[in-house]
This record gives sequence, structure tokens and C-alpha cells, in this order.
Amino acid sequence: MADSKFSILPAHVGIIMDGNGRWAKNRGLPRSMGHIEGAKTFRKIGEYAGNLGIRHISFYAFSTENWSRPEEEINAIMDLFGDYLREAEEKLDDNLEKGIRLRFLGDRDKLRSDLVEKMEFLENETKNMSKVHVNVAVNYGGQQEILHSVKNIAEDILSGKIKPEGITLERIQKGLYTGEQPPVDLVIRPSGEQRLSNFLLWQSAYAEFWYSDVLWPDFTENDFDEALRAFEKRNRRFGGV
Ligand code: FPP
Repeated sequence: MADSKFSILPAHVGIIMDGNGRWAKNRGLPRSMGHIEGAKTFRKIGEYAGNLGIRHISFYAFSTENWSRPEEEINAIMDLFGDYLREAEEKLDDNLEKGIRLRFLGDRDKLRSDLVEKMEFLENETKNMSKVHVNVAVNYGGQQEILHSVKNIAEDILSGKIKPEGITLERIQKGLYTGEQPPVDLVIRPSGEQRLSNFLLWQSAYAEFWYSDVLWPDFTENDFDEALRAFEKRNRRFGGV
């Protein structure tokens, strides 16, 4: 149910969880401590968004470019992701009661097999849920996602399932990790950067962008409200007048 404090809610919100490293550096702590705090914020904002009535929310946890970070940091992020998966499995009944469907966006080939196993388990267990859709992007790149869909179409053409005329916008969208989910209406990026960084490129074609200087570990429910309030005021024309 939509919270009465907003007249309109975005159907799909994308969040780029940025600024963990700087948060830690500002405190003289190792970067991994920033990710630990960031993971707490991820849980807090995910829950809050669901309670507000946001139907689809996508979090950018690890990009295809993040492999260039020090191994120690990569391992710390993957371990935190593993903790989250374990917790989601433990709380599965609770999640099912809340109607939460979990999806993981990105290429799984490079991910640890224990993580992939849990990701597949959770996706399968929650696949009939439709109240709240939570997407976590891990080893995700927007360009790579489009390429993945195009390759899928090429296979359909080779096997004679479709003809080149059958390549439509809908068919490309169907092959994306987000499948039938609605396009992103609002992209939120904390930590002062004002770029999309290869996040949900296709889905964000007409998204409104909201950014703030607050670092992700410090991001609060009030910041989320502020982004939603800004969204309420935007005049979305989708190329019209
Ligand atoms: C960007 O901040 C953040 C990341 C690359 C990792 C995000 C990971 C988490 C929030 C925790 C693990 C995920 C889950 C789903 C539990 P940055 O490190 O680039 O920050 P900086 O720009 O200040 O260096």
C-alpha cells in the first residue's frame, strides 16, 4: 500500500550504493568497514522501501568493473553478499509472507559457486511472489546485459525461432535480467557522483536521476524520502511536450 505521504511513487527505484570507501577513509578505517556499514544501509533502505509500497527496487552491489579492486576488498564484499544470502534463506518464511521476490542481476560465471547456489535457491523459492521485487546486481554491467540479450536473440534466429523482423524492443527487453519488470523511474546515487556507471542502462532510458552528497553508509530513510519528494515534483514528458 502506498504511504499517504507521497502522491505518486516510482514503480521501480534503482540505487547505486556509493561512498562506502570514503566513509571508511574519513574514519581512518579499512575500506571493508565501509562495506560492512553499507550492507546495513542496504537492509535498512530495502525494508523501508518495501514498507512504503515501492514495488520494484534494484541495488547495485558489484559491477563488472569492480574486479579491478584489491582482492581483499573483493572478498570482503563477496562475504557480505554471502551473509545476506544466508540471512535471506533463514528468513525465507518471513520474506514469503511479505510477498518478496528476489532476483540477482548479472553474470554468474565469475561468482563463487556457493553464492550462485544460494542465489538460484532464493530466486526459485520466491519466484511466485509479486508484492515486492528486490533485485541485487552482482557482477553486473548494463552494456554486458544488453549484449547477453542480443546473443540470446541471435540463438533464436539461428535455430529459426524468430526472423530478424522479430527483433523488437520488447524482445530485447525480455532477454534482460529484469525481464518483465517495469522500467526504472528513479535512480538514486549518493556520495556526490552524477553518473550512471553502467547501471540498468536500458531500463533507465527515461529515469529521473537524484543524487546527494551523503555517503551510502550514512544514507537514511529521510534521504530516501527526500529523493521520493523530488521525484513527485518532476515533470516527466517521455519525449513529449
Ligand atoms: C561503492 O562504494 C560500493 C561498492 C562497490 C560495494 C557495495 C557493497 C555493499 C553495500 C555491501 C555488500 C552488498 C550486499 C548486497 C550485502 P565505493 O567502495 O566505490 O566507495 P568510494 O567511491 O567512496 O570508494
